[in-house]
Amino acid sequence: MLKPTESAVSKQLDRIETPAAIVDLHRASANAARVCAYLRDHGLGWRPHVKTHKSVEVARIQIEAGAAGLTVATLHEAEVMCQLGVDLLLAHPPVGRAKESRLSGLLQRTPLTVALDSGESLATVARAGADGGQSVPVLVELDVGMGRVGITDPGELTRLASLAEERATTSFAGLLFYPGHIRMSSFEQGPALTEIAERLGTAIETLSRAGLTPGIVSGGSTPTLWRSHEIPGLTEVRAGTCIFHDRDSVALGAGTSDDIAYHVLATVVSAHPDRAVVDAGSKALAREEFRAGGGGYGLLPDHPEVRLVSLSEEHGILDLTSSQWRPAVGDRVRIVPNHVCVSVNLQDRLFSPGPNGLRPVHLEGRGRQQ
Ligand SMILES: Cc1ncc(COP(=O)(O)O)c(C=O)c1O
Repeated sequence: MLKPTESAVSKQLDRIETPAAIVDLHRASANAARVCAYLRDHGLGWRPHVKTHKSVEVARIQIEAGAAGLTVATLHEAEVMCQLGVDLLLAHPPVGRAKESRLSGLLQRTPLTVALDSGESLATVARAGADGGQSVPVLVELDVGMGRVGITDPGELTRLASLAEERATTSFAGLLFYPGHIRMSSFEQGPALTEIAERLGTAIETLSRAGLTPGIVSGGSTPTLWRSHEIPGLTEVRAGTCIFHDRDSVALGAGTSDDIAYHVLATVVSAHPDRAVVDAGSKALAREEFRAGGGGYGLLPDHPEVRLVSLSEEHGILDLTSSQWRPAVGDRVRIVPNHVCVSVNLQDRLFSPGPNGLRPVHLEGRGRQQ
């Protein structure tokens, strides 16, 4: 991948209509390489969650860097990503007849493991497997404190695992957990990680005593990424946001401002003594809270002291009271969203500056359930 010069990039960006989502694929590749090197050093696999980018091109970058497979949340993401021919993990419990038939179609096309936490979802997967005449590997989901999907009680978890093993068209392949409740900076995560390690240890021990030693223990997130090696028993990490990063992940210390590979380019459309208005609002940036704390809806990397205090659908309001900078109508502004995955999901395509100009990066995994 040939890298364009900074002046070529700014010329290309001068001409594009805003708001426009810009991706730096060189930075994304460097982010992928760094994640793979760290995980490889600790004997862990990377199975990045594609919900961050929903793009075959970006998934290819992750696979070329060494990802062991991909994680998806929706059947549409799986249908799109199966063209890459790598192992897929559906990390969202499929339930109901409509998903069952779609799942059975997918199973004909790709190796797919499914994570779930109920007998109902297991039945859906088992019927989809029966339709396709195959056995589907299942991960049972442990709740390690987030209070979303997942079983807390190790005995109940073990009963579901043995049910998966007993059914003719499913098999027990291991455990999945998601530490999405850990939203403090990396150096403050010690006690929370110890608690996860304890809960996970008890679950693995209970399963093993029942003769169900988990082959796969799938966990991880971007905030906890660089401390993944502190979780005994973990075999793979699904961190996805780390491919692009955002205001949240950088504030939590999972990346630096130099790692940010995505921003929304906006234009100042109205200027006032203490405030400016840009043409990127909640339909470009997403109205996501800043989980690291401190408020605002995005970071202006070129003017970090400026606060993006409020959003309408097509307007972003910049509070200039802490800044000397006074933009004029027509000026361009780069904005890094609080949460990149939701901003990407609002775009038709991303734009990648290159030696031959801007080119679109398609988001094939978007649509049909988003
Ligand atoms: C089940 C699951 N696994 C992995 C991830 C990726 O985590 P992150 O966005 O912190 O990289 C998510 C994100 O929402 C998730 O829901």
